[in-house]
Amino acid sequence: MPSSYVEDPAPGHGSSAPRSAFRSDAPALSLGGSWRFLLSPAVDAAPDGIERDDFDDGDWADLAVPGHWQLGGHGSPAYTNVRYPFPVDPPHVPSDNPTGDHRLAFDLPDDWPDEPAVLRFDGIDSCGRVWLNGVELGVTKGSRLPAEFDVGPLLRPRGNLLAVRVHQWSAGSYLEDQDMWWLSGIFRDVTLLVRPAGGVQDFTVDAGYEHLTGRGTLRLDAESPDAGGPDAGGPDADGSHADSVVRITVPELGIVGLPAGRPVEVADVQPWSAEEPRLYEGEVHTATERVPVRIGFRTVTVEDGQLKVNGRRIVFHGVNRHEFHPESGRAVPREFAVADIELMKRHNVNAVRTSHYPPDSAFLDLCDTYGLWVIDESDLETHGFSELGWQGNPSDDPRWADAYLDRMRRMVERDKNHPSVVLWSLGNEAGTGRNLAAAAEWTHRRDPTRPLHYEGDTDCSYTDVHSRMYADHDEVDRIGQGIEGPERVRQRPFILCEFGHAMGNGPGGLLEYRDLFERHPRCQGGFVWEWIDHGIARRDAAGDAYFAYGGDFGEPLHDGNFVIDGLVHPDRAPSPALAEFAKVFEPVRITAAPDGALRVTNHYDVLSSAHLAFSWVLEEEGIEIAGGVLTVPPLAAGAGTELPLPELSGFPATGAESWLTVRAALAADTPWARAGHVVAWGQLPVTPKPATTAPAAGAAPAVTGTQLRLGPGVFHPGTGQLTALGGLPVEGPRLDLWRAPTDNDRGSDDPDETRWRAAGLHRLQHRLIGTELLGDTLVVRTRVAPPGLGFGMRADYHWSADQQRLRLRLEVEPEGTWPCTLPRLGVRMAVPAALGEAEWFGRGPGEAYADSRQAARIGRFTSTVDALQTPYVFPQENGNRIDLRWLRLTSADGAGLRVDGEPAFAFTARRWTSEHLDAATHTTDLEPGRTIVLNLDLAQNGLGSASCGPGVLPRHRLHPDRASLTLTFTSPDAEETPSR
Ligand code: GAL
Repeated sequence: MPSSYVEDPAPGHGSSAPRSAFRSDAPALSLGGSWRFLLSPAVDAAPDGIERDDFDDGDWADLAVPGHWQLGGHGSPAYTNVRYPFPVDPPHVPSDNPTGDHRLAFDLPDDWPDEPAVLRFDGIDSCGRVWLNGVELGVTKGSRLPAEFDVGPLLRPRGNLLAVRVHQWSAGSYLEDQDMWWLSGIFRDVTLLVRPAGGVQDFTVDAGYEHLTGRGTLRLDAESPDAGGPDAGGPDADGSHADSVVRITVPELGIVGLPAGRPVEVADVQPWSAEEPRLYEGEVHTATERVPVRIGFRTVTVEDGQLKVNGRRIVFHGVNRHEFHPESGRAVPREFAVADIELMKRHNVNAVRTSHYPPDSAFLDLCDTYGLWVIDESDLETHGFSELGWQGNPSDDPRWADAYLDRMRRMVERDKNHPSVVLWSLGNEAGTGRNLAAAAEWTHRRDPTRPLHYEGDTDCSYTDVHSRMYADHDEVDRIGQGIEGPERVRQRPFILCEFGHAMGNGPGGLLEYRDLFERHPRCQGGFVWEWIDHGIARRDAAGDAYFAYGGDFGEPLHDGNFVIDGLVHPDRAPSPALAEFAKVFEPVRITAAPDGALRVTNHYDVLSSAHLAFSWVLEEEGIEIAGGVLTVPPLAAGAGTELPLPELSGFPATGAESWLTVRAALAADTPWARAGHVVAWGQLPVTPKPATTAPAAGAAPAVTGTQLRLGPGVFHPGTGQLTALGGLPVEGPRLDLWRAPTDNDRGSDDPDETRWRAAGLHRLQHRLIGTELLGDTLVVRTRVAPPGLGFGMRADYHWSADQQRLRLRLEVEPEGTWPCTLPRLGVRMAVPAALGEAEWFGRGPGEAYADSRQAARIGRFTSTVDALQTPYVFPQENGNRIDLRWLRLTSADGAGLRVDGEPAFAFTARRWTSEHLDAATHTTDLEPGRTIVLNLDLAQNGLGSASCGPGVLPRHRLHPDRASLTLTFTSPDAEETPSR
């Protein structure tokens, strides 16, 4: 069989003209299910005759369609980011080209009409050759795009045989170098669709909104099924609609049988927006077919250098979404697409860039329904050519011109009727060149209603918005001021198509980006990279579950865990970064006004705050003592108001630290969250933390044999090391500067981790200078320093006590010239493993770091030590809780210890050391040890986003400096005033 089509840069052949994705009342048959399957190592190794009825596939395997064969037990997934996993020799692909043959025998339902029909494939990766009943239908490329083949005359009532030969590699693979797993197969739906004679071939609904008048304009464009040309429309002489004209009916708007080609104005229409996704149900119909449609009226413009929808500037609080499921790859079951959207809406995500290909069209239906602004991106990336200085890039090679156009065209035609799609994108990281410019020109002509995006068009010579990825805060600020970039781009709206790289623990610095989006009208937000970690569910030899990443399948070329960079973990459990996103981009801001009042500001693009119910609670030391409803007048989008604080004077006050928390919650159920879901909140201090009680003192140190006793503490008299506390064996505390590096610590050209290791911070040595008793105080003087280097840190421990409390004042002072920041500054100690319950008064409930702490509020929280851990797919520093006034660690029987800090401190508690965490490469490597490792810190370095993008902002860096931290240790049963 000839296989030259595999390496042909041209698009596939044999399929019918692309059209909008719709489901009509015409019969359809899903062909998903169990298919027969054979994987051959090369095109030539695949058997002949698979299309024939008499071919025997008895020894083939069964494979689920839709699906990827690598996830169905045949071959292995492989992950690369930029590099092609094969020689860059376009349009040639390896001779070892895994080829998957798929066969399905099927019958038609008894009532299947004798009408034309098409066979529709919604996605085949990367190249499929299709036969029905022995007849070749054609070839499709463009993995994430549909292809339809006319099959009507070929169908038999019984015993149809569909055969599809799929090649892992094809010329198309050169255009599909997205940063993701290489996964092959028929991974989206396969459907047989009746296309009735005289039915709707295709249609475009253009529903614009004139914001000054509130009028909508509706226009249907469709070719008459018989005429084969644009239809002028018009009712038949007898007034009936039993003609060949395509018409639209929208009962709610009083539109009945409006013919194609005739626009109509509708007074007082409610516009569609991501915040109020108003859809009007209707029908596009001919005499023989009815297609349900949902119409959203909206007009997208670029005016005054700003992107506007319905006349208003919008700001993208977006995410980049790949289609991913940890077991089925890019074959994402519908319920997971719904889960994605609901999670997004609940976390104040208002926009999605469909990186870097059109999603399953069901996802766009959901975006229309739930309300998300969408940048729909063509299935195109040639990033691997950047490794060759873009030599031979298909984007500028005429041989690929048709393929570029074909991909854009198939996306635009498929998705044109979605109101949620507000921008088209030509693709991602494909350099630049004439094929992109031609695709842009075609798109502008075909759909003048949507602006065009492509980040690689750096001077906006053929696109409409200025787009950057990972620009740092300073650059965004300069862009906002109009002092960065070529003149032409300075007039354009600016978006960050990617920012805030959410790899592992991070990103830090989202708040500072938000400030820029609010400061500069042209800076219209961005899309965090990315929505989900692409970890593949696996089990180790012991049967324990973990998520695999690049290299775990023995790939010779791979990019490790760079594919694990989402706001949600592979199982869609939100990572702490998603909570941070939700807080930073909350659509209502509740803050303290300078005069002691409360300020509420509406940051929605269009929505008033009328759908929100405001409430307040007063908490003393994290315990609620009063609360009520707060009446906030509805605020229009962009408006703000000041309100007096609720009356708090009548409430009993213990003098403990108290905070007022104001929440804005949904007043009624929505499709994505129930009434009561908190959309935004703010906190104001009411009673400050009382002055600390006098230092513990009064207990005199007593040396007996090998023990030095000081209040509840027992020390080794020689080393000054604490060995027991209130009867509990402990080790430490000792100065600790190290943390298990995060992906962001490891990133960039000049990674923090490299500097920290060069400075030996992971192997510090502690030299005891001496211990002395100064009155009732035990002073332990040490110098902590890396081997082979001259600088160090003086760390002096001042211990004092009364009968119940043991107090440590740690004083540190750097010596010599330190070459780097510090990962952390604090002490580490080991406490008994039984102390597995934590309770604290400070910020929580989730982890927080200097530059990612907006989501953490002041309160009293509890957690088990195990639940304090964030299971980042690639283990690294995590679980830090900040701003603690006190912490209690207890065992089931109530034994334990309490730590009070001055100033407030941070803690991590885990069943392994930072060194173990650092050495682990998968979650299953983390084995609980004999103790709990407790770190009590003055501070940690921020997180930044250097795994791809800017590092930690200067104000969030932790520099070696003189510092002091006081920690008071008590056994809980010895607490004087038991806290509520
Ligand atoms: C960008 C790219 C994304 C992803 C990201 C890093 O350059 O567009 O696809 O690779 O970097 O995770």
